[in-house]
Amino acid sequence: MICAPTDRPTPAKDSIRDHYDLATPWYRLVWGPHIHHGLWSEEDSRRTVPLDSPLVAQERLTDTLAAHAGIQPGDQVLDVGCGMGGSSIRLARERRCDVTGITLSGVQRRWATTAARLLRVTDRVRFQQADAEEVTFPANGFDVVWSIECTEHLFDKRRFFQRASAWLKPGGRIAICAWLAAAEADGLDLRRQVEAVCDAFLCPSLGTFADYVGWMTEAGLEVQHTFDWTERVSRTWELCDTRVRRLGLPWIARFIDRRQATFLDHFRTLLDAYRSGAMQYGCIVARRPETVA
Ligand SMILES: C[S@@+](CC[C@H](N)C(=O)[O-])C[C@H]1O[C@@H](n2cnc3c(N)ncnc32)[C@H](O)[C@@H]1O
Repeated sequence: MICAPTDRPTPAKDSIRDHYDLATPWYRLVWGPHIHHGLWSEEDSRRTVPLDSPLVAQERLTDTLAAHAGIQPGDQVLDVGCGMGGSSIRLARERRCDVTGITLSGVQRRWATTAARLLRVTDRVRFQQADAEEVTFPANGFDVVWSIECTEHLFDKRRFFQRASAWLKPGGRIAICAWLAAAEADGLDLRRQVEAVCDAFLCPSLGTFADYVGWMTEAGLEVQHTFDWTERVSRTWELCDTRVRRLGLPWIARFIDRRQATFLDHFRTLLDAYRSGAMQYGCIVARRPETVA
């Protein structure tokens, strides 16, 4: 694990909440209702100009994760770190499941609730403002615990997987996408790149693939799928960087809250970390066994 809380000063939980309270309109403007990478097809990710738009690529990421998690109509899903409700609402509409989304940010909770109302899915989707590291849910309550690009922000990832495992029904799945430190990133230069990403994007630490697999396994889960999607998602940051500059956002942000808009200057930092091999983008699905051995 890199930038582990013992290694470096970590961001305060309040600054993560403040970041999403203030930056959500920026994310919406630059990237749409999903605050996560797009997943381009292998062929498209090799083209200089992609055929698929960012929205199509983001929906592909959500739909591919849902397929690997085997989400069925009627499933009870917990969306941890639900952002503006992009995944929750899509899962409810496309997969006919019932979704509870939690987010640290009060602004995002209200935004997601309004989006669900406008899209007429409030009978199947609800949102709470809650800290995933503190919230409690009854044991055996969910078929799927889903989390796209939230675990980077958690301080005790091992403990989170222990708790999330207990929320799953026997046979339930946990499905995550996460920014990862590459196993090779223990060299000084690569490590500094990961640390720069942690600092710019308020991540207390980034785990490696092996860390995540270890935490899930220790939590009694059986890992079913691991995919390295780095090549297929990286262009996200080229496109974000171009859009941000075209819209003049760094300039506008100077007049609003410069500290909360630092991330606008660091899309290249992330792209460089993928290109150098310091970071990877991973998808992992694990299952709670039907019976405990
Ligand atoms: C990069 S955004 C991803 C949002 C959403 N999953 C999506 O794909 O559109 C990270 C999300 O994690 C949430 N988050 C960060 N730390 C959290 C915590 N401790 N508890 C709950 N949510 C948290 C943020 O509020 C934000 O919604």
